[in-house]
Amino acid sequence: MYVSKDRGGLRLPKLIFALNKSEGEHTNISELQDDLVEKVTSIAIFGASGDLTRRKLIPSLHTLRFEGYLSEQTRILGIARRKMSDESFREHLYKGVEDHSRIDPRTSKIWEEFSKNISYLSGDYDDPETYRNIAKKLAQDDPKFREKSGCLFYLSTPPVLYPTIIKHLGQGGLVDTQEGWRRIIIEKPFGRDLNSSRDLNRQVHEVFDEDSVYRIDHYLGKETVQNILTFRFANTIFEPVWNRNYIDHVQITMSERDGVGHRAGYYEGAGVVRDMLQNHLLQLLTLTAMEPPVAFNATALRNEKIKVLEGIRGIRSTDYVLGQYDGYRSETGVDPESRTPTYIALRVFVDNWRWDGVPFYLRTGKRLARKTTEIGIQFKRVPFHLFSEQIDPSPNHISLCIQPDEGHHLGFKTKVPGSEMVTTPVDMEFHYRSLKDKALPEAYERLLLDALSGDASLFARGDEIELAWSIIGPILEQENQRHSYSQLSEGPREAEKFIQMDGRRWELACVEH
Ligand code: BG6
Repeated sequence: MYVSKDRGGLRLPKLIFALNKSEGEHTNISELQDDLVEKVTSIAIFGASGDLTRRKLIPSLHTLRFEGYLSEQTRILGIARRKMSDESFREHLYKGVEDHSRIDPRTSKIWEEFSKNISYLSGDYDDPETYRNIAKKLAQDDPKFREKSGCLFYLSTPPVLYPTIIKHLGQGGLVDTQEGWRRIIIEKPFGRDLNSSRDLNRQVHEVFDEDSVYRIDHYLGKETVQNILTFRFANTIFEPVWNRNYIDHVQITMSERDGVGHRAGYYEGAGVVRDMLQNHLLQLLTLTAMEPPVAFNATALRNEKIKVLEGIRGIRSTDYVLGQYDGYRSETGVDPESRTPTYIALRVFVDNWRWDGVPFYLRTGKRLARKTTEIGIQFKRVPFHLFSEQIDPSPNHISLCIQPDEGHHLGFKTKVPGSEMVTTPVDMEFHYRSLKDKALPEAYERLLLDALSGDASLFARGDEIELAWSIIGPILEQENQRHSYSQLSEGPREAEKFIQMDGRRWELACVEH
């Protein structure tokens, strides 16, 4: 079923995700593939001189093209304020592809041909002239642009510009089309709080139908994040125990070694709650806690995720600990008096039949001891100790290792060989690295392909985003109460005490200790 020839690397399972019946455009997969490969498609990237375009978007599009997912006729138009010729824009991008692409442009040998269709336009985002120029440019590259062609707009500018760009796209007639499609990808953060996300949703909906809006969370593009669903719903052995009867609690950890680096300008105004909790962490929570959807499509999946968010109990000030790493205030671009939190540990309950009484402990922070993202399912202890006090008390666990060493661990107990009944915990592991020669696709490859195919399953819906903001609202109001922690540590000591007070401790199974 794949469009491309196999050239190594894990194939993107587009055939599963590609159908989006809610848009009603395609009735079968091959029709959709023909559409994507044969029709002219434009991708117009706003904020194209920035890091995301160079490090992620163009390298991913280059890979998709190499693997045969993109038509030779796909046009890419970069738009930004900075003045630049097409030629220097392409040179700037080439470096990014060399450094960041899964497929080296020196061996792919498609760069020359691929880059011929990349052009650049400089302009002020608030000037209607810019949008007239965009329309002219797109129509010049593709005379059918107004009637038949598809166009994906990608907003990769500072979020404050989103309403302006969206308004001008509408007023400039760029979203009107007779037969073609128009979609928009909007980078995070989508709003700063509940009210601003509602305003933004309203502004977006004045120009685009919800079906055409793709709010991106790159975590959903990660192979291992999608694999949470496969693990749960393509196996029979896990789902029966995936509930309050067997699970004691769940831990989701996203720890980063890096500090804010050169992104202090953005991070100072965002902090860990907006940067990581509102989106990535809550997404992992919903995928872990959701009920099996009735079908594998955007509507069914997102409906189930929404139900999890609706079930989250109101967060109180005793449910979390905030922290800031020592030295954060001396980082370039950070206010010396900054109160921005860089760490959070949080306990949430999902009040529904499946999860009643099961705490979910979430934590994330910058400048911690290690880079790891993992979901730990801690099972209850055995109800009766048959083997007396020599038994190791550690209960069973399943750990889903999202990154960097992607895979799963299953922890259980076994008898130590010998005449006595002594047990020891052992670990059964699967790692993606054991799938030899299979490089994991980059998250943006998957998400760009899905947006081009009209599949919004791995993107957040407007109501989902608003719910997420309303859940974290109480934390945003109390962000000032934060503790300090040493760089490259496990986080604030208060976070240890926080979980110990519940009779538990933080666990990591995916990293070497
Ligand atoms: C981004 C955040 O969304 O995710 C960053 O803005 C964070 O602050 C990054 O570092 C983490 O992503 P990943 O894929 O490296 O875990």
